[in-house]
Amino acid sequence: MRIDKLISEMGIASRKESSLAAKRGMILVNGTPVRDASTHVDPERDTVEYAGRKINYGKFVYVMLNKPAGYVSATEDSRLPVVTSLLPEELQKRELFPVGRLDRDTVGLMILTNDGALAHTLLSPKHHVEKEYYFTADEPMREGVESEFSDGVTLADGYECKSAVIVLDPDRRGGKITLTEGKYHQIKRMVAACDNRVTYLERISFAGIPLDPTLKRGTWRYLTDGEISLLRERAR
Ligand code: URA
Repeated sequence: MRIDKLISEMGIASRKESSLAAKRGMILVNGTPVRDASTHVDPERDTVEYAGRKINYGKFVYVMLNKPAGYVSATEDSRLPVVTSLLPEELQKRELFPVGRLDRDTVGLMILTNDGALAHTLLSPKHHVEKEYYFTADEPMREGVESEFSDGVTLADGYECKSAVIVLDPDRRGGKITLTEGKYHQIKRMVAACDNRVTYLERISFAGIPLDPTLKRGTWRYLTDGEISLLRERAR
């Protein structure tokens, strides 16, 4: 595979940028600068570095995105912007999709991948993958919500939620909620079942992976090897 193709498919740089970088000696193959970005490499065997960064080229790509409000967690929508449009064009070609959904107005941690099997397993109710959210509410949450959440909140439609953990801020107008399931509008409906209303919702961790605090809203980065291992462990 051509080096410039590999680099562009990883979403690191366009082919043109790779060509320039190669000329400047910024691309190393097995430790040696390669001046021509059209050189072929074997992604399985060769080590490729771009501007000092090792490129882990694999069949699957795993990305963390800090979702801004206003984006739909989908790959296509006829009216609204989708989260995958926040990825560079090169990466969009690799057909990543979001692992689970966040509402359009929800912000924060979203994992995207093209590893369909892993995503499917992580989302299956059997796997009880933990999702942690920070929320704020219209009014202070009523007394006793901690035990209501722990016992399992009953939603307006009668659905009995699994046990969840809520840790409130001192003013009780917000806090953290940890769920092991992912029903449609679940946090909003749980808070509504406590006669209150969510005014802000952010996912702050998924499957034990926290949202990277250095990742600005609307930006993305590759998951680290450690984070990918964590996902695989949770999917076991
Ligand atoms: N719960 C919600 O209500 N919305 C989300 O986006 C995620 C969890």
